[in-house]
Amino acid sequence: MYSEKVMDHFNNPRNVGEIENPSGVGTVGNAKCGDIMRMYFDIDDQGVIRDVKFKTFGCGAAVATSSMATELVKGKTVQEALEVTNKAVMEALDGLPPVKVHCSLLAEEAIHAALWDYAQKNHIVIEGLEEPVNDIAEKAEDEEY
Ligand code: FES
Repeated sequence: MYSEKVMDHFNNPRNVGEIENPSGVGTVGNAKCGDIMRMYFDIDDQGVIRDVKFKTFGCGAAVATSSMATELVKGKTVQEALEVTNKAVMEALDGLPPVKVHCSLLAEEAIHAALWDYAQKNHIVIEGLEEPVNDIAEKAEDEEY
């Protein structure tokens, strides 16, 4: 059912953890399955994502997609990171079963939420970036999970 890459990223997720004083942090959730994903970015003055960490409270596919998403955005500019769509994440993982596509969407939204936070903090506009609809930052900040 799952590709080897999905299993690999599920069993050995990359970049798990958090970043203290991140340049941007985004927390998103899926109301239906209840899964939550948080992504932290460390972005330098040139707008390059130097470090990424994530925490996912969710299913195996959510863990695997967030792990792969962090690998894909690391070293990219914020503009390039916008191109890391859920489709790109799924392709990098050699696909996901149809019922698990929404898990990869959560990863895309987590990237967007972290970028949005970065843009807000720095009073900049990232072209093509819209406020993520499933951003649950305010609620999640009061909770530990
Ligand atoms: Fe909802 Fe995977 S089941 S994120």
